[in-house]
Amino acid sequence: MSSLKKIKIIKPDDWHVHLRDQDILEKVIKYTQMFYQRAIIMPNLNEPIIDCKKAIAYKNRIINLSKNKQFTPLMTCYLTKDTSLKELQHGFTEKIFIGSKLYPNQSTTNSKTGINKISEIFHILELMQKIKMPLLVHGEENNNNIDIYDREAKFIEKTLEPLRKIFPELKIILEHITTKEAVSYIEENNSPYLAGTITPHHLMLNRNNMFVHGIQPNLYCLPILKRKIHQNALRKAISNGSTKFFLGSDSAPHIQKNKINQIGCAGIFNAPSSLLCYITVFDEMKALKYFESFCSKNGPNFYNVPINKESITLVKKPYKILEKVSIGKDFIKPFLSGETLTWSVL
Ligand code: DOR
Ligand code: ZN
Repeated sequence: MSSLKKIKIIKPDDWHVHLRDQDILEKVIKYTQMFYQRAIIMPNLNEPIIDCKKAIAYKNRIINLSKNKQFTPLMTCYLTKDTSLKELQHGFTEKIFIGSKLYPNQSTTNSKTGINKISEIFHILELMQKIKMPLLVHGEENNNNIDIYDREAKFIEKTLEPLRKIFPELKIILEHITTKEAVSYIEENNSPYLAGTITPHHLMLNRNNMFVHGIQPNLYCLPILKRKIHQNALRKAISNGSTKFFLGSDSAPHIQKNKINQIGCAGIFNAPSSLLCYITVFDEMKALKYFESFCSKNGPNFYNVPINKESITLVKKPYKILEKVSIGKDFIKPFLSGETLTWSVL
């Protein structure tokens, strides 16, 4: 019986979000704070967050632009082959960083100083394993000879699995997973050292949606939307109550002129509706009983931080998603802008 109209859960956290900087940060921050108590802030700014000083300064800019002073930004260190071990250890023990982010070179926005060959950073991973610092991973093998739809599965086979053999106790989060291969890899390993985050857009859409009535640049993101069979695997993964999967919206705002361009940027700005999208999918999958653990428990348990004390109530009531967020003369178009969802926040 789907008579459930109201659901109160522990306030969730977003374990993967891009807030950008300056005028965009100022405009988008409130949407993340509307739903989430804490959020892991991605470090891929134009000038990436590669050390403690940059992380502290960026965190302060986020806090200064926040109306909601309860909100906690959790910072990550962008790994390069030159990342200093001393810096990393200091950043983690002093709680400046919650983890480090691995971007394969040229795999996505601002990844030109990312890692070319994983062996370049074995000394860093060894330290991270020792001090129990989590590794957040953009899991795509970036190589033009590999089909873009196969890059995640290839990354698991060629990079992740060998890496986990060398560093079996390194805590790894395979972020924004998009394939049945990633789902089964995480489920089958069932390891305390391996988890995955899932975005609302990869749960709601598949690659066909990118080509409805022509090309839909606002649905272009990385890893790219996959076939329906993969979408269904993700939907199933969150519906069976596994504690290895949790919320990471990957909200990634770009101003419209950079999306609709000769070279369009990858990223979907879902912050204004992410939590409502997730509950819509859990509801459709008749899996609302696992909604709270996905949003509010599995993440903190994996990252070994306390579960929030606050709560949030969602109601089954139509909610129209805003059309745009103005940024100077331009704007950012939110995911599902102008559409109506069946759930809203009380
Ligand atoms: O679509 C994406 N956008 N994927 C990423 O990995 C990065 C993000 C961004 O920063 O724009
Ligand atoms: Zn991202």
